[in-house]
Amino acid sequence: MTEALIRAALHARSHSYAPYSGFLVGAALLTNDHTIIEGCNIENASYGACNCAERTAFFKAVSEGYTDFEMIAIAGGPETDDKHHVSEFAYPCGICRQVMREFCDPDSFRVIIARSVEDYEVYTLAELLPHSFGPDNLI
Ligand code: THU
Repeated sequence: MTEALIRAALHARSHSYAPYSGFLVGAALLTNDHTIIEGCNIENASYGACNCAERTAFFKAVSEGYTDFEMIAIAGGPETDDKHHVSEFAYPCGICRQVMREFCDPDSFRVIIARSVEDYEVYTLAELLPHSFGPDNLI
């Protein structure tokens, strides 16, 4: 499943709209019923309106009725990178980590940062966002 999810993230990256940064990111989110939802970064001439690949995937998924997730794969790198191998590990930004925290259990949700299907790192959300604040804090 990890390999399929990385392939989906690389596929999503091919739809990235990033004319300003030239940094193309794809994400693939796995729901608990094993549906894969893809997302890419979408930039804007008004820079503050840019959206990261991870949040595109989450917002697509939630707006389609999915709220339970197992893992996400992320692949990002400069547009000069190959379609199947990116040159760096693109770690999710702080805002995206917080969006993940809204919907995912920090100890079981896994974040895969991939350069290719053979070259990737796996973290729990808790490792990437320690001592986090989430919906359970407000109950
Ligand atoms: N970007 C993502 O898509 N995900 C991240 O977690 C970090 C950054 C995008 C936003 C912007 O379009 C480009 O990468 C450069 O910051």
